[in-house]
Amino acid sequence: MDKWLIFLLLFTAILAQTAYPQYDRWELLDCGLDSIDVNYDGWLWLTDEVFIYTGQKKTLQVNNNNLPGYINTLRYFPDGVKNCYTLYPDPQYKFIFRAGFYYGNYDGLSKPPTFDILLDDHFWATVNTSSSDDQPIYHEIFYKPKADRGNTNVCLVQTRQGEVPFISSLEVAYLFIEYELNTPIMYSLMGNDTALNLVSRNAFGGLNKVLDNGESTYNSSLGVCLDSTFRVWQPKPVLGYLNISYSDVDENTCLNEAYENQPPDALLKNAISPKNATDSIYLNVDFKNSTQQSAYFVFYFLDYNLSRNPNYTRKFEIHIDGAFKNVVELNNSQFGQVVSLFPVQVSGTANVTISPFSGSKFPPILNGMEVYTAMKMGSNNNVNVKEYYQGVLLDCGSVSREDYYDGWPWMNDEGSISTGETKTLQINNNNLPGFMDTLRCFPDGVCYTLYPDPQYKFLFRAGFYYGNYDGLSKPPTFDILLDNHFWATVDTSSIDEQPIYHEIFYKLKADRNSTQCVFGSYSPRKFEIHIDGALRNVVELNISPFGQVVSLFPVQVSGTANVTISPVSGSKFPPILQWHGSLHSDEDGRYRLIAWI
Ligand SMILES: *[C@@H]1O[C@H](CO)[C@@H](O)[C@H](O)[C@H]1NC(C)=O
Ligand SMILES: *[C@@H]1O[C@H](CO)[C@@H](O)[C@H](O)[C@H]1NC(C)=O
Ligand SMILES: *[C@@H]1O[C@H](CO)[C@@H](O)[C@H](O)[C@H]1NC(C)=O
Ligand SMILES: *[C@@H]1O[C@H](CO)[C@@H](O)[C@H](O)[C@H]1NC(C)=O
Ligand SMILES: *[C@@H]1O[C@H](CO)[C@@H](O)[C@H](O)[C@H]1NC(C)=O
Ligand SMILES: *[C@@H]1O[C@H](CO)[C@@H](O)[C@H](O)[C@H]1NC(C)=O
Ligand SMILES: *[C@@H]1O[C@H](CO)[C@@H](O)[C@H](O)[C@H]1NC(C)=O
Ligand SMILES: *[C@@H]1O[C@H](CO)[C@@H](O)[C@H](O)[C@H]1NC(C)=O
Ligand SMILES: *[C@@H]1O[C@H](CO)[C@@H](O)[C@H](O)[C@H]1NC(C)=O
Ligand SMILES: *[C@@H]1O[C@H](CO)[C@@H](O)[C@H](O)[C@H]1NC(C)=O
Ligand SMILES: *[C@@H]1O[C@H](CO)[C@@H](O)[C@H](O)[C@H]1NC(C)=O
Ligand SMILES: *[C@@H]1O[C@H](CO)[C@@H](O)[C@H](O)[C@H]1NC(C)=O
Repeated sequence: MDKWLIFLLLFTAILAQTAYPQYDRWELLDCGLDSIDVNYDGWLWLTDEVFIYTGQKKTLQVNNNNLPGYINTLRYFPDGVKNCYTLYPDPQYKFIFRAGFYYGNYDGLSKPPTFDILLDDHFWATVNTSSSDDQPIYHEIFYKPKADRGNTNVCLVQTRQGEVPFISSLEVAYLFIEYELNTPIMYSLMGNDTALNLVSRNAFGGLNKVLDNGESTYNSSLGVCLDSTFRVWQPKPVLGYLNISYSDVDENTCLNEAYENQPPDALLKNAISPKNATDSIYLNVDFKNSTQQSAYFVFYFLDYNLSRNPNYTRKFEIHIDGAFKNVVELNNSQFGQVVSLFPVQVSGTANVTISPFSGSKFPPILNGMEVYTAMKMGSNNNVNVKEYYQGVLLDCGSVSREDYYDGWPWMNDEGSISTGETKTLQINNNNLPGFMDTLRCFPDGVCYTLYPDPQYKFLFRAGFYYGNYDGLSKPPTFDILLDNHFWATVDTSSIDEQPIYHEIFYKLKADRNSTQCVFGSYSPRKFEIHIDGALRNVVELNISPFGQVVSLFPVQVSGTANVTISPVSGSKFPPILQWHGSLHSDEDGRYRLIAWI
């Protein structure tokens, strides 16, 4: 059964210096939200609408006041096995991705589904949305976006018959601290190709509340130094230890600024310690998976009393599954320490032991611990995971990531093309659609790469509005091709100041794989090379090849040799030449090069 779907591709006028895509440092998405944005805990949450075009929105009737505000709407995906969010986190930074799921019996079936989530086509987690304590389920991962992808995908994949994936929230925030020049490092052992999938992030001691960034990253009025990013630290009571708390820390300083990963101060001011100086701290970490994995551990140790007492030290050792890992010494000059261990091979449950160094008069102390499993995030060439879409509206040459026109979201075309120059027109004509005020022009070869879902027939519609963007008052004529087949010759001269459109229905061949070079442009350029008036070569540049190297040898020369590259009669386009050095093109489009020998 074929469905007709609308696939619109608009490139306003014809076809530079590629504008850098607009990347984000954070984005808090309240999935399924109807309004544009909303505030929770002082943070702005946006609707997810411009990041995904599929799925349906639902508002829950929630009676539980202890739930975060963003869980009262969700987006669910009754159609399609895989549905994806397209995000634009800045690839310069490491990011935290946190997805929240609160079922709330939104479908009245009392059957919380289980499904998978993917990050840039890599398995991230299996989400089991049944919750015994009526709380949202979260999955969190650190990842440095790949610059060459242009965007980052978070996909929900249905894996079980009748179990429809949904999502309540998606937080994406960079792991970077801005307010200090000497910024501490964030997760220094995490490589650019590794993602860290959160297993646990715990604060120890007598804490009874979750630590996060609260209403701001830094509450200066209280000297409360909160989490610098969007991490959430769960208090973890462990029986049999003393709860240590340092409440008299100078209120005007943030302890955390000095330490790797910059944990919240409340974490550093609380700790557990054995009652007896000769005892150890024992903790278990359940990886819920018997397969051997590579884990990343971070331990936070700080004894604030040591900062004002030179007369004692704490010295202890870290063991994981019985294997010695590290010696830690806390003293007057270094009263806090962050220890990162990676890679640590684990499987099933790992046993962490922190024991006093032999002869130490004081027991060990532990303020916090984070555990992650590592995932390799190399480029994925698996063609089966290609992101096909059911429709997209491209506002060619636009620098803003998306804009609404007539209620429809238009994306810029950065993700589909890497060549050409973007231009903005001064338009005085109010009757033109808003997406016509920018365009992409192509002095060189051109190819849009698009991924329409091969299951469906598509409408492709390309729009052109010259608007004298180049000041030459010479609207060009050129060809457009679809999958290397001639589609139309576009004559951009318009008597009535209206855009020119070309439209075609097309169903992608199912056997075509990911590299759908769907759009091309241009009649061939055909030209001749003359040296000192003698014809040497005829060159034709086409959709393929769009480049050519011509070598000539031997060429008899003396004094000054004149090179002329002129269009072959009838060619619609002038010649083009890449050359190191100065070149001049005369009025009729011929290049002249003077070579000194
Ligand atoms: C990781 O990424 C950063 C920033 O993008 C870059 O400066 C650094 O060289 C990269 N490291 C490696 C090992 O590629
Ligand atoms: C999801 O979790 C519930 C409760 O822990 C469990 O009963 C159920 O079997 C799980 N579902 C799947 C598919 O693993
Ligand atoms: C330490 O604090 C935890 C969490 O509040 C509590 O459960 C535990 O009983 C306390 N331990 C002691 C020895 O007071
Ligand atoms: C700082 O915290 C206090 C107490 O929680 C609160 O009343 C105040 O509004 C906060 N200030 C800022 C700037 O967040
Ligand atoms: C501390 O541990 C040692 C060795 O196990 C034991 O001899 C001693 O009695 C313990 N002290 C206390 C106060 O529990
Ligand atoms: C356990 O981890 C391995 C490797 O990451 C993965 O392939 C497997 O699916 C996981 N098993 C479960 C039950 O999650
Ligand atoms: C830290 O020092 C204060 C003041 O000297 C003292 O009351 C407290 O018990 C000490 N805490 C620890 C854990 O040694
Ligand atoms: C440290 O020891 C010295 C010498 O015994 C003593 O004078 C000083 O008061 C001690 N300091 C503290 C903070 O206990
Ligand atoms: C961890 O400790 C438990 C109980 O203390 C033990 O049964 C298990 O074998 C230990 N695991 C490893 C990997 O050492
Ligand atoms: C304090 O401990 C650090 C290691 O944590 C060590 O390098 C340093 O020498 C110690 N300082 C003193 C005075 O013992
Ligand atoms: C993808 O398609 C191209 C052209 O149809 C073909 O040459 C190539 O082998 C295909 N690649 C894969 C991985 O199927
Ligand atoms: C090259 O061009 C110059 C100026 O156009 C002309 O004077 C000269 O005779 C030409 N040389 C040859 C070898 O054609």
